[in-house]
Amino acid sequence: TNKKTWSGRFSEPVAQLVQRYTASIGFDYRLAEYDIQGSLAHARMLATTGIIPQADLQAIEQGLAQIQEEIKSGQFTWQLAQEDVHLNIEQRLTALTGDAGKRLHTARSRNDQVATDIRLYLRAAIDDIVVLIHVLQHTLLDLAEQHAATIMPGFTHLQVAQPVSFGHHLLAYYEMLVRDTQRLQDCRKRVNQLPLGAAALAGTSYPIDREQVARELEFEGVCRNSLDAVSDRDFAIEFCAAAALLMTHLSRLSEELILWMSPAFGFIRIADRFCTGSSIMPQKKNPDVPELVRGKTGRINGHLVALLTLMKSQPLAYNKDNQEDKEPLFDTVDTLKDTLTIYADMLTGLHVNPEAMRQAALRGYATATDLADYLVKKGTPFRDAHETVAQAVRFAEEKSCDLSDLSLTQLQQFSNTIEQDVFEVLTLEGSLQSRNHLGGTAPEQVHAAIRHARSQLPAT
Ligand code: ARG
Repeated sequence: TNKKTWSGRFSEPVAQLVQRYTASIGFDYRLAEYDIQGSLAHARMLATTGIIPQADLQAIEQGLAQIQEEIKSGQFTWQLAQEDVHLNIEQRLTALTGDAGKRLHTARSRNDQVATDIRLYLRAAIDDIVVLIHVLQHTLLDLAEQHAATIMPGFTHLQVAQPVSFGHHLLAYYEMLVRDTQRLQDCRKRVNQLPLGAAALAGTSYPIDREQVARELEFEGVCRNSLDAVSDRDFAIEFCAAAALLMTHLSRLSEELILWMSPAFGFIRIADRFCTGSSIMPQKKNPDVPELVRGKTGRINGHLVALLTLMKSQPLAYNKDNQEDKEPLFDTVDTLKDTLTIYADMLTGLHVNPEAMRQAALRGYATATDLADYLVKKGTPFRDAHETVAQAVRFAEEKSCDLSDLSLTQLQQFSNTIEQDVFEVLTLEGSLQSRNHLGGTAPEQVHAAIRHARSQLPAT
């Protein structure tokens, strides 16, 4: 049938292009399982409250179960003429059950229906994403544990700053992911509120029981204003903001992997299955996966801006603009899931070259601060120590050697308080070990941080 559910007052059919332009079935078919869940809960409430007869509920339950099967097995035909997922399913239900199917939409509008569907979809997506983050976090912890004592140069301004443990560096990303998870879990509370019952915008004259529907669908609460319930998509925007931050963190790590894999650094190799070659330059192995993560971050940021822009000028309550919320949202979820999955796998296959890291740390006078701190402990004020060490670095630079390569006599030219024990702090290991406090880079602290993380992180 080509007849529209709502065409009763229309005097001519919708133009072909308009039909295509206004339809959302091309993408919102993905909401089908949530649409069915929502309809079942709604129908059960209609029956308990006596709004529809029990017999109709049974017909609706059977019909929706069959439709669910048809969709799962790929037998269901989605029709553009039925516009969206809601009308496609309702029309099929009516074909299967007659009047019972026609009664399902009592006390409901597609406006509160679609808002409910998206919330159910997003709630499930958040739960999947949180698990995938946990998997990635376990991978980071395992790698950090192997490299608690692997020394690399820590950078500021991408200039060698101070030596750090590679494990410690990885744990920085672990911490970012902890906050990303918290943001998603917090957002979930606001996603998990029931719009159904708001109907088109004003509520409904039937004696509905919204609490029953909320309980059945496991919503934490009921949206308390009908106009707000059908019109705002702030929960989706909030999710996209959390997603953009998460991708931003992965993008920063990607940028580092790309740099570290460049022969100029040579710190790591990414397993071949995450790289591609060049069609012209035979020597090339390119870090495509991290590059794409970095690139896709732009697209996720774009989705956030798209949803904010979609919302900003809409008068209350529902407007068709909101149909445009789905593609950015779906793409954000899909991209996040793929990125997290591929990332955990990629980190597991990372080859680390500790010697290259060590040589790089030795090249940039990474222990200069340690020498200054040494002088301070011998009584020199910090600012004077800073100046003294700057002189020593210039001297070593002229000799093209590291501070630790200077002899005791050479070092003593800069301060007569320097003694043989200075060489303990000038080594990379000494530098790391001295930063032995909560949050510091000493290997002992890295192990403690990993133990703490493991005690907090759910098993996957
Ligand atoms: N496909 C629509 C959407 O995604 C469903 C709601 C339509 N409501 C309406 N009054 N036209 O938003």
